[in-house]
Amino acid sequence: MLRILFLTHAFNSLTQRLYIELQQQGHEVSVEFDINDIVAAEAVNLYQPDLIIAPFLKRAIPESIWDKTTCLIVHPGIAGDRGPSALDWAILNNETLWGVTVLQANKEMDAGDIWTTQAFMTRHTSKASLYRNEVTEAAAIAVLKAVALFEKGNFIPQPLDYSNTENSTIAGKKLLKIKGQLQPLMTQNERKIHWYEDTTNIVLRKIRSADGFPGVLDDIFGREYYLYDAHEEQQLSGKPGELIARCGGAICRATIDGAVWIGHLRDKQAEHPFKLPATRLLAQSVKSLPEIEPDQTTGYRDIWYEQEGEVGYLHFPFYNGAMGTEQCQRLQRAYTEACQQETKVIVLMGGTDFWSNGMHLNLIEAAESAADESWNNINAINAINDLALEIINTNSHLTVAALQGNAGAGGVFLARSVDEIWASQGVILNPHYKDMGNLYGSEYWTYLLPRYAGEKNAEHIIQARLPMGTKDALSLGLINEVIEKKGTAFIKDVKKRAADLADVPAYSSRLEYKNKCREVDEQYKPLANYRKSELDKMHMNFFGFDPSYHIARYNFVYKVAKSRTPLTIARHRRISPLVENKTRSAV
Ligand code: COA
Repeated sequence: MLRILFLTHAFNSLTQRLYIELQQQGHEVSVEFDINDIVAAEAVNLYQPDLIIAPFLKRAIPESIWDKTTCLIVHPGIAGDRGPSALDWAILNNETLWGVTVLQANKEMDAGDIWTTQAFMTRHTSKASLYRNEVTEAAAIAVLKAVALFEKGNFIPQPLDYSNTENSTIAGKKLLKIKGQLQPLMTQNERKIHWYEDTTNIVLRKIRSADGFPGVLDDIFGREYYLYDAHEEQQLSGKPGELIARCGGAICRATIDGAVWIGHLRDKQAEHPFKLPATRLLAQSVKSLPEIEPDQTTGYRDIWYEQEGEVGYLHFPFYNGAMGTEQCQRLQRAYTEACQQETKVIVLMGGTDFWSNGMHLNLIEAAESAADESWNNINAINAINDLALEIINTNSHLTVAALQGNAGAGGVFLARSVDEIWASQGVILNPHYKDMGNLYGSEYWTYLLPRYAGEKNAEHIIQARLPMGTKDALSLGLINEVIEKKGTAFIKDVKKRAADLADVPAYSSRLEYKNKCREVDEQYKPLANYRKSELDKMHMNFFGFDPSYHIARYNFVYKVAKSRTPLTIARHRRISPLVENKTRSAV
């Protein structure tokens, strides 16, 4: 067992995944945010780690640290690739095969000796999606391999030598091929869209290579916006560069050979310099554009239904998993319609990257009254709580949530409102609200969590305030099944299982039993009572004296840099129980 310190810019999804995987292997992991050299050195001093891992670092580790302790850097590039825009270049250059490399920190950034490298096939998708899926999977494999090699001892990593371009060996040991190179920081110059020259394919690649950060800077009606969330339009076309339609929150812009939908923008100079739906930011200027109803071939689809046999599938890949009031209302309408079909099972698919991350904090921050909009997002007619209520009370179908991607806060509990949760391998859940300024949370979690996980586990889950892997979530009763597959293989498996669920001879008795249980639960304590007591506390969060939720939300949306690492993950900064008790008795 090793003591491993993570030195990281943030506790992001990849860091969370490695944190969980390494602990499952029996290692002890503590986390320190990379705030400055002195703080990092203090963490190393306090923890005395066997190994330091940097899963997501934006600057070099000081020599005083890597000189004494082995530091492994996770770089989202193939062996030999260097520089801060690895994935941006991979997408822009249309690489089909990419990788993650674990290398040792030394004097030169990303030029240290190579421990492991893991390849993956890319997809036509955004940088953030590639990072949350393929990169994270590859990083988990590469880091576990590197840690095992470190634990075994005597492993000599391979120095970076750009002449190793073909298979070669040294002393019988096969060397890694070095195909990557040093690439500069990608600037807005390389990203710039030339609407009169670039094909749809190039426009998509430019926007996707910068999504979620920094976005491609572009001019719309003479003002500078960063573009995100780009999708190809199949039918519409127009004069290159012209805005030709709108659909939900998205705008459609013509290219030389078609058009693209742009779902989100960030206004460079605005009062709210964070991502918002495009039509929300452009408001009156796009009101006169033709409005498109999305279908299979046209429009910006963020909700759609498909049916196969006796199973209905509802997809809702909302950008970043955030669900605003209006999105919840549209989802609820789609859910009600799904329940009216002659099917037996409804599967809530969420999206590839996230199933849901709960209420839409950016829209709340941008609202005239953040408190009112928070309240609406939870409690308006057909908003998130009504949606959860309708799912819990579904008596016509068995319901499943298929988690292709991660879920956080209210999104986890919304998923728990179904009868069964099936999660894909590697999914991370954050089943807690408290990190958002002690937000109490709603979505009937006070009913759902004890109902499925039991009182003791429910208490443990909520108090821990930590990300959870599928293994723990399963053993605590938060989810029902783990399907050890990813992407299309996961969806294929979900479809097979859902068809089987609709087809089992016991289907009717199962449905009857579920409805009976609901009746009994309702008699014991009505759902309205759970909702009322949750909302009483949420009302205090939104409108009460304590501003913690509003401050935490502001910091989250504006991405205010962290000034310390939370004690929940910085175990080296916790006072041991012994010392704590002594301090208490002295007081
Ligand atoms: N509303 C708006 N945006 C959200 C969001 C939400 N509820 N949850 C996540 N996002 C955005 C982030 O701002 C980030 O945006 P970016 O593309 O500009 O970088 C992106 O989604 C990815 O989130 P990030 O925090 O980087 O992902 P992660 O995998 O590291 O962490 C969570 C996942 C769920 C732990 C974290 O996003 C989170 O705490 N979200 C807020 C959950 C919440 O409190 N919801 C409200 C109560 S129901």
